[in-house]
Amino acid sequence: MLIHSASQLITIAGAPQRGAELGRLGVIEDGAVLIKGDTIADVGSSQALRTQYPDESTLDISGRVVMPGFVDPHTHAIWAGDRSAEFEMRLQGKSYMEIMAAGGGIASTVRATRAASLKVLMNETRQRLQRMFSHGTTTAEVKTGYGLHSAAELRMLLALLRLDLEGPLEIAATFLGAHAVAPEYQGRTDDYVTLVCDTMLPLVKGWWHNHAPFHCYPFVDVFCEKGVFDLDQSRRILEASARLGFPLKIHADEFANIGGASLAVALNAISADHLVATSAEDIQMLAQSNTVAVALPCTPFGLAESHYTPAREILEAGGLLAIATDLNPGTAWCESMQFAIALACRYLHLTPAQAIAAATINAAAAIDRSDRIGSLEPGKQADLIVLDIPDYRHLGYRFGTNLVQTVIKKGRIYPI
Ligand code: NIG
Ligand code: FE
Repeated sequence: MLIHSASQLITIAGAPQRGAELGRLGVIEDGAVLIKGDTIADVGSSQALRTQYPDESTLDISGRVVMPGFVDPHTHAIWAGDRSAEFEMRLQGKSYMEIMAAGGGIASTVRATRAASLKVLMNETRQRLQRMFSHGTTTAEVKTGYGLHSAAELRMLLALLRLDLEGPLEIAATFLGAHAVAPEYQGRTDDYVTLVCDTMLPLVKGWWHNHAPFHCYPFVDVFCEKGVFDLDQSRRILEASARLGFPLKIHADEFANIGGASLAVALNAISADHLVATSAEDIQMLAQSNTVAVALPCTPFGLAESHYTPAREILEAGGLLAIATDLNPGTAWCESMQFAIALACRYLHLTPAQAIAAATINAAAAIDRSDRIGSLEPGKQADLIVLDIPDYRHLGYRFGTNLVQTVIKKGRIYPI
């Protein structure tokens, strides 16, 4: 199939984009892309490709922008229930960490998620995945972490594997058994860390071998934060994970800087995420590493807070920056990468071109898939979106409506 006459074909060709390079979109005016099966076969001007492939069936999308599907590299999209009552409490003056310390927050979603059957959990999650997909996200990372005991965490992983198999949205799973201390271990954080290291991680590894022998391992993530898992506890979990062969991620410096970003660099984590309270020193260290800095602008927005990731400083220091939604029931129920881009332009001070690259090729790097997705290049998976806009700068500029008209996932067309 030859998709042609795009007002702009945004290829984002090449490697993930570091520092000042961010925003290299590789725009082809009046562009076309040839898809064979589930793969991109060629990219170029409409004229050139129509001459070269006269017998291909065609899809005329005249006047619209075509670009790679969004990759959302940090979500907690699987959970049961909601926390609308806590949202109201926060508006009345309680802070997120206060609500968490009083047994609400993550713990209340843990209660609802443990109580939900596999079917209910999948049904509630499927709806969110469908909304993500219709807003242009073709691949998303999704974390467990609302089970917090072995059986419930494995149930979340099973639901993720099944939802990935159902498609069309593709899922990269992350085991986040260290999202919070399980209620049974309240006040005994070290014991819970021991449970994660000695019991849960080996169990997840064996389970994964049986259930997903052909998938690469899930990531392991930890909520390294004051009042949750401190630096030593986070290190224990991530080192145990690395010994078992899991690739690493970390929630670092969301509210307080306790050293999570430097730990990520020391352990060669794939990504360090949030990075709101990160020190200037840690920014330098992170920017010189291969760890992707993932900014989550929907989170401070969702919490009505005014501190955002210092993205410009990360870029000035030469870092690899991606953006994600952080979709979760507590701080950011947002299924739209288009909205994350709109916030990134305003509060991370990115240009639309920078935000778009951060939401595609760099986001793919944050889940270690930039060799397969995140740009439109021959040989890459045919994951594309058609936007009902004449110019890519409408992304970021406009917000609150869905600009996606068609999603193409692995070469299959899904009208929105
Ligand atoms: O990324 N920081 C920890 N996890 C989520 C919030 C999860 C929740 O409140 O349920 C976050 O903001
Ligand atoms: Fe998160």
